Amino acid sequence: MNFDKTSFSAETMTLDGITIRFRAWRNLSYADRPADPEYQQMNIFAPEAYYEGKSINGYDIGSAPVFMPNTVGGYMPGRAGEPGLNPFGPPAPNSIFLALAHGYVVAAPALRGRTLRAADGTFTGKAPACIVDYKAAVRFLRFFTADLPGDTDKIITNGTSAGGALSSLMGASGNHPDYEPYLKEIGAAEAKDDIFAASCYCPITDLDHADMAYEWQFLGVNDYHRKQMVMTEGGRPAFTPVDGEMNALEQKASVEEAALFASYVNGLCLKTPNGTPLTLQENGEGSFQEYVKEVILHSAQQAIDKGTDVSAKSWLHVENGKAVSMDFKEYAKEITRMKTAPAFDALTMDSAENSLFGNRTTDFRHFTSYSAQNGLKDGQLAEDEVIRLMNPTCYIRDDQAVKAKHWRIRHGECDRDTSLAVSSILTLLLQEQGAEVDYQSPWETPHSGDYDLDTLFAWIDQICR
Ligand code: DHB
Repeated sequence: MNFDKTSFSAETMTLDGITIRFRAWRNLSYADRPADPEYQQMNIFAPEAYYEGKSINGYDIGSAPVFMPNTVGGYMPGRAGEPGLNPFGPPAPNSIFLALAHGYVVAAPALRGRTLRAADGTFTGKAPACIVDYKAAVRFLRFFTADLPGDTDKIITNGTSAGGALSSLMGASGNHPDYEPYLKEIGAAEAKDDIFAASCYCPITDLDHADMAYEWQFLGVNDYHRKQMVMTEGGRPAFTPVDGEMNALEQKASVEEAALFASYVNGLCLKTPNGTPLTLQENGEGSFQEYVKEVILHSAQQAIDKGTDVSAKSWLHVENGKAVSMDFKEYAKEITRMKTAPAFDALTMDSAENSLFGNRTTDFRHFTSYSAQNGLKDGQLAEDEVIRLMNPTCYIRDDQAVKAKHWRIRHGECDRDTSLAVSSILTLLLQEQGAEVDYQSPWETPHSGDYDLDTLFAWIDQICR
């Protein structure tokens, strides 16, 4: 592991009429004993203006925040990020390009993912590899802070979906000793790995409770609609529609998983910031459901205030321009179910998350006792310690974890990849521990990220000043 500040390439890039000049340090190894050298490395970019004594948006070479996006999706390996165009949707400059234009230093690590194998065929990127790598990359930044541009006390992670989950885990588990043996194993730098802020788009997280949360939201909706996506590394994915009705076993799992959620939520003893207890009755109703409804109603209200016509939403009740109430079951029916029950720990043990929780020699494992007991394959259950290492909610109330002070969580109003309960619980636990959380569910926004970079950067500027 090494950082030579003189070993950069000076580059210029123009996109969308914006020209950026920057220094790039690429392929910096952040692990001395990498399991996969191709992935355990990162790119660092800094505005050239900082080396000419200039400032951008009030930042200079010492004070610029360090924006740290990951490119992980589907818990697959993520390549080190580059300024350029977004891989999805209409061609637009990506977060790295715009962050440099805005005056941030960007540290863009590659992270191992669930499909990587060593030459001998064993798996090298199963849990907790992705989070261990992200932490190792932060430690690299802290270790070489004297030579690096930017303020390493202002590291802000960013990611979407599985990448959003990793960002939330970075924010929740800073410096926690649980990760130490894994960091030692890969030869990470001796430094701290806590971060200043976490930006999390639709985090696919709390995986060991995500099945019950999903059925709490979608119970009674038995038809499912999704697009089969072939995840290509870095390339563009292909989609084909898959529509169907859950079979009897899946419907049974839906009822049984939904029944588990109330006792999980009640066991958490959640409260709103002003102290109201958030609980659920066995039928899934209760103050926690009212809280999630408020998140959706707030989203609707923001849309109404912007002049959006919301009259097509039969589940939404608007009175005198105010979104006053909603029917949660009708809402779930309208946004439709994407996944069959159990949504994450599949009975067939073939989900992305089953693959995440494999180990060196096993590609797929269970990670909930429900699916381990009811599964159709004679599958193994991952170790509790490993499941915990992937779950930010296990660290938020743990004093040994240094939490990010600032959080921005976005989970689209019509996201069906995971329940809104997941991001709600994350938010409530963080607020309980004194973190500042900006949590919203943007109207008619599906499972996606980086769609509001202007607002994200305004938030970063506000917390950094
Ligand atoms: C992602 C989406 C999912 O629905 C999931 O279960 C895991 C990961 C993703 O887009 O990263």
